[in-house]
Amino acid sequence: MITNNSEKLSSSRSTALGQLNEYTFTEFGLIGKTDQELVEITVYSATTIRVRVTRHDEFNELKYSVVALPQTTPTQIEDQEDKIVLATERITLEIDKSALRFRFLNAHGEIINEDDHAFGTSWQGEQVTTYKKLQPEEKFIGLGEKTGPLNKRGWGFQNWNTDHFGYGTEADPIYCSVPFYIGVHSGLAYGIFLNNSYKTHFNFGASNNRFSSFSADAGDMDYFFMHDESVAQIVSAYSTLTGKMSLPPKWSLGYQQCRYSYYPDKEVLNTAQNFRDKEIPADVIVLDIHYMDQYKIFTWDNERFPDPESMILKLKSLGFEVVVMCDPGIKTEKGYEAFEDGLEQDVFIKYPDGTNYEGQVWPGWCHFPDFTKPETRDWWQNQLKTYTALGIAGYWNDMNEIATWGQTLPELMEFDFDGDTASTRNARNVYGMLMAKSTFEGAKENLNGKRPFNLTRAGFAGIQRYAAVWTGDNVASDEHMLLGMRMLNSMGLSGIPFAGFDTGGFVGNATEELFARWISMGAFTPFFRGHSNVNTRDSEPWAYGEHTEEISRNYINLRYRLMPYLYSMFYEASVSGIPINRSLAINYTHDDKVYETAYENEFLFGDAILVAPVSSQKELEKIYLPEGKWYDLFTDTVYEGAKETIVECPMEKLPVFAKASGILPIQSLVKTTKDTPNDTLELHLYHGSAINTFHYYEDDGTTYAYEQGHVHQRDIRYDPTAQTLTFAAAQGDFPSVFTQARIYFHGFEPQELQSLPIKHEQYRFLEKLTNFDPLDFNNIHDFHIKDLAYTTIALSHQEIKLSW
Ligand code: NOJ
Repeated sequence: MITNNSEKLSSSRSTALGQLNEYTFTEFGLIGKTDQELVEITVYSATTIRVRVTRHDEFNELKYSVVALPQTTPTQIEDQEDKIVLATERITLEIDKSALRFRFLNAHGEIINEDDHAFGTSWQGEQVTTYKKLQPEEKFIGLGEKTGPLNKRGWGFQNWNTDHFGYGTEADPIYCSVPFYIGVHSGLAYGIFLNNSYKTHFNFGASNNRFSSFSADAGDMDYFFMHDESVAQIVSAYSTLTGKMSLPPKWSLGYQQCRYSYYPDKEVLNTAQNFRDKEIPADVIVLDIHYMDQYKIFTWDNERFPDPESMILKLKSLGFEVVVMCDPGIKTEKGYEAFEDGLEQDVFIKYPDGTNYEGQVWPGWCHFPDFTKPETRDWWQNQLKTYTALGIAGYWNDMNEIATWGQTLPELMEFDFDGDTASTRNARNVYGMLMAKSTFEGAKENLNGKRPFNLTRAGFAGIQRYAAVWTGDNVASDEHMLLGMRMLNSMGLSGIPFAGFDTGGFVGNATEELFARWISMGAFTPFFRGHSNVNTRDSEPWAYGEHTEEISRNYINLRYRLMPYLYSMFYEASVSGIPINRSLAINYTHDDKVYETAYENEFLFGDAILVAPVSSQKELEKIYLPEGKWYDLFTDTVYEGAKETIVECPMEKLPVFAKASGILPIQSLVKTTKDTPNDTLELHLYHGSAINTFHYYEDDGTTYAYEQGHVHQRDIRYDPTAQTLTFAAAQGDFPSVFTQARIYFHGFEPQELQSLPIKHEQYRFLEKLTNFDPLDFNNIHDFHIKDLAYTTIALSHQEIKLSW
């Protein structure tokens, strides 16, 4: 790269890092200087290395995403004349001194990732970009809540949190930004997290065949490079860096019913009662903006909701929790307590001249709390007490991009940024996350030992520590339903395990078939909520006719029966960061098939279940099952993997498979997660050839007592060669709900099990549908497993070994 001083000053010409003039080793790496830049390399762990470059006198430390500190790691650093070589057990970083460029290799000397030789890290004015050489057949996945395909090769994206009503299936940007992606090539995988909250840009070989790149409009180049054996380990490393999801209350894993908006109180109660009358399990009713008086947060509309407390009590007696809408806009209105108090406490976002910023949203002109200011967060917590006092433990942070009518939020506004004063340019992307943080931490404090449920639309890297994320105003169409699945899988790849979409579609009206398909799929998403826009058709499970109602009941029932499995997966995600919804790219990274358009939506729901999302228009679909053996969950039909297969998918049957060697714990049917299931844990074991371990986890589901060890957890291990199933001794002092386990053997030959006291039954995961026209044979679908072998054992805290 040829540069001279006048070119360096020019803002339109790109100038790359020059020669490394001096450097010193530090405790965790090195720090050095070029003519214009300060450079720092920090080893965080054997699998994570941070690269920072600044044109300022010191590095800019973004406080909001990274929670990890560098760990002392065996590292060798060698000065080899033209380059410095820094090696951990997993990553070797070669630093070219003459023009400062970086090359990452694995322990076998294979190139994982390297700077474009000419451009490396370059500036164009304030904008800083790192250019990476495109590797052969390189694929790019992740980047959180993004539209488009699973493999983002050839695509470019921006991170700039934006309210995008009814976004198109290729629209960008939308609500939530996670500047973290994973590159895959030549049997290798790596992750890159760009730790910069300005507007950022990612180019994965879009409109060029030379490089992938990531840029920030201003601030430092500050990225973390991660490499490990598997994508799962890289996702886990990213979650170590940016934090784990905290275990949510169990009720939030149940079905949540929302609508823009249910009112008055009678309608809310009727909706809840309908679930009970129709025997469709549900745990939550969500109150959207119409509960408020003229959309003023912390108030209630006195006519529609004259007595919220008794309404909430009635809902609780029916087994429902309430989630309330929280918008950041505080109406500018004399006499409105939150506004007056906010003014007095000086909590709002300001212009640089010190006056408060005002923008328009639901209530009209509003002030907006500056959630980047600690005092504002305390103030918000105090306001939330009005909800806690009513027994509310669920919060929904909406419009926090910040959404205002007109969309173009002025960029000169000033934010406290925890003492570092920032403008909209670097605060906008983190604002939503800090609102979610304020709500989560405030509610947690107010709830005195109970876990809050917190949902957000906008977020940034690290949002998983505070809230579940949903994909905003999607559209009632097949394309959107399938895109939604990809987006949830992508969020899982990007550190956000608790994610969901508006089941049924928010904008527009679903058909009976679309709703049935969507709710079947929703049963296999971490956050499961039906929601729809104002002025659209009714969209509860019973609103689409009897047949769709039965299908909805069937899949919601299945969701509730899967609760022991699902809750254990939530626990796993909270400790390892491994998501609940796992794009096949996580476990089958180097199988090219999983990236093909036809199969890119498929995912594992936990370790044992594979879901193949299909459109509502299809009765037959070609799907891809990766290597191994797969059992149709509803019929036990066995499929050989590493093959495309055509499967039947009538409206009643989503293609769902259990993995060979899979262990699936389920419970008896309940109408809410608050009900206690019967004392028998059903354990479905799928014959296979690989050893498999399932980590079973149980606790009270509502408090933080689990942090003190009030849990019941154990490994359940299937060893096909030894022909054993072992429940390790249970840890923790929480008494399990289950006193016995009924083990169901799928795919086992009867003679194999001769040594066990075996019984047989006809088993159904889905109830037989009754609401069909007997003359219409297409509707006579009864999915069951014939003569399924089972045996029952007593459970205790001790190790139990079943051999056959
Ligand atoms: C926008 C949200 O995305 C939507 O879910 C909600 O219903 C409306 N705001 C009204 O609050």
